[in-house]
Formats: sequence, C-alpha cells, structure tokens
Amino acid sequence: MTDITSQTEAALAAIAAATSLDALEAERLEALGKKGWVSLALKTLGGMSPEERTAAAPAIQSARAAIADALEAKKAALEAAALEEQLARETIDLTLPAVAAPKGSVHPVSQVMDELAEIFADLGFAVATGPEIEDDWHNFTALNMDETHPARAMHDTFYFPDKSADGKDILLRTHTSPVQIRSMLEQGAPIRIIAPGRVYRSDSDATHTPMFHQVEGLVIDKDIHLGHLKWTLETFFKAFFEREDIVLRLRPSYFPFTEPSVEVDVGYSTEGGRRVVGGHGDAPGHAWMEIGGSGMVNARVLEFAGLEPGEWQGFAFGLGIDRIAMLKYGMNDLRAFFDGDPRWLAHYGFSPFDQPTLSAGVGAKA
Ligand code: PHE
Repeated sequence: MTDITSQTEAALAAIAAATSLDALEAERLEALGKKGWVSLALKTLGGMSPEERTAAAPAIQSARAAIADALEAKKAALEAAALEEQLARETIDLTLPAVAAPKGSVHPVSQVMDELAEIFADLGFAVATGPEIEDDWHNFTALNMDETHPARAMHDTFYFPDKSADGKDILLRTHTSPVQIRSMLEQGAPIRIIAPGRVYRSDSDATHTPMFHQVEGLVIDKDIHLGHLKWTLETFFKAFFEREDIVLRLRPSYFPFTEPSVEVDVGYSTEGGRRVVGGHGDAPGHAWMEIGGSGMVNARVLEFAGLEPGEWQGFAFGLGIDRIAMLKYGMNDLRAFFDGDPRWLAHYGFSPFDQPTLSAGVGAKA
C-alpha cells in the first residue's frame, strides 16, 4: 500500500517535471503501459481472494486514475506550449518584397490593349464594349449591309444554328464595328470612343486565325472631316510606336458603312529580316503596309443609329490589334499568339507591374 502511494507520488512528480511529449510518453509507458507498474499491480488482483481484492483494488484504481489525469493535463499543457512556440517561430513578414521570380505574365495582346486605352484616353476617348455574340442587325444591317449585300459573304461568318427570340440571325461578330451602332444608340452624340475586343471569322493560316482582335474608333461630332481622322491616327501611331517619323498613307477604298472610305497604310523598312515601322513607304528600302480600314461614317449608318446626318457626322476606323502588336514587339507568327505556350509567353509576355502609362512610356519592356 505504502509502496503504491510512494510510487504514485514519484510518477506524478516525474509527469509534472516532463519537458517534452516524448518524456511524457516514457512516463506513461512506465506506469500505464502493458508492462507498466500500475498494469502489473492490476494484474495481481486476479490472484487475490475477494477480501484481499476489495482491500487492495481501490488504491491501485485511484493511482491509475490520478496518473492518467496528470498525463492528460500535462499533455495538453505541453501541446499548447509547442503551438505557442511554433507560432512565435513561424512568423511571416508580409511587408517584405516577394523573393520568388514572378510567374505570370501579361499577354502582348492585353498589353497592347492597355497601351491603346492609355493613348486614346489622353486624346479624350472612352473605352466602349459590345457582345461577341451579336445579331445580324448590329453586325451587318445597321452598318449598311442588308441581307443581299455581297460584303456579308466576304466576312466568313460563324452563324449559330438558332435565331434570337425576335427572329434575328445570331453570329459571332466579324468585326468591332457593331459597337459603333450600340454606342450611338445608347449614348447619342457627340461620341468619342474606342472599342477593343475579339472578333471571329472562319479563316485560318499563318496570318489569319479564326479569332483575332480589333480596335474600333468612332468620333461623332459637328464639322468632323477626314483631316481629323488622319491626325488622330497619326498621333496615335506616333505615341504607340514611340517615334516621330510615322508616315500614314490613306488609300481610297470601300466599306459599306463609311463614305468616303480609306485604307490606312503605314511606311516601314526591313531591318535584319524584321519589319520596322517608320519612314515614307515610297523611300528607298521602304514599303507600305496596310494596318486598317477607316472613313467618314456613312449617313445611312447614322440614320440606322438614330442620329440626324444633317446635324452630326464623324469618322470611324478599325485596326488589327494582333498585327500592330506583332509589328511593335517583333513576333512573326500570329498562331503562336493563341497557342498558350508558356515559353512563348515567358519570352514575349510583360510583367504585370509594367502598366503602360504616358508618363513612364507606353512601351514598357518586359
Ligand atoms: N470593320 C472593318 C473591317 O473589319 C474595318 C473598318 C472599321 C473600316 C471602321 C472602316 C471603318 O474590315
């Protein structure tokens, strides 16, 4: 009996003194383990007479309970201390700069769209958007291409099998020009917007992909003429290519939604197999490259969009974003734009920290 009492006191003292979970476990095995002294003492009860057992059992049972309680309490205390210690050790200073190399990058098309928005914002243009799933009224009819117009066939349109609730054909927009119509109907005049976005045509080779990007420009006001158009495009391209020697050539053309219509060419030279924008296209070693269509908004389009052609007029243009991105950043295969190859993106992509701004330069390099 005194034996059990002193052994229990010794065990409780050892448990209280344990400084680690391992030391505590050793104490548990020592007393309550299969071969621990409490377990062995409990086993002796089996060989006792009922009277002896009644006398001996309570002391052993209470020794076991006291040791088990002490073990549990000490275990909780040690675990709490370990957690405190771990929390103190594993602090993270969130104000430190990231040490890992940045992984994501901004696609050149997104970069160029940001550059466009920045430059045109400086010229007083807002950014407008429209749906990529369009109806044939906005994509064609209101742009002066009725059902029988031959230009409709030239657009290689992706049509949806079903019509809209109001009976219109539904399609993937073939150009950003329907945003002209939506903007005029929604906000009336005057207007100064650009509308960058995806467009779709059933066409695919090294220079054509079924999805590509355009930016539409639209200015509606009073006394607007072709001179405003040429100045606006020239000012834009000078800022975009960051050089003063940009020469544009406006070549007579035809679009159903502009009258007169002009195609816009830019002078360039070839250096080391790479096209470099700049200079007069007729100068030695230079040539002209088409970069978009434009013209004065056709009076019929103004009428479709609810504007009075006697009062308002304006110009519109459409540029291929992928094309000008390739020119500016020296890529030669359009298809690589949409392959999603991380090596291509690592090479041609831009840091998300490099926001184009007019003050820091719109052509911030990756
Ligand atoms: N929407 C025309 C195209 O995709 C380009 C354009 C836009 C022409 C605006 C004139 C005015 O080819």
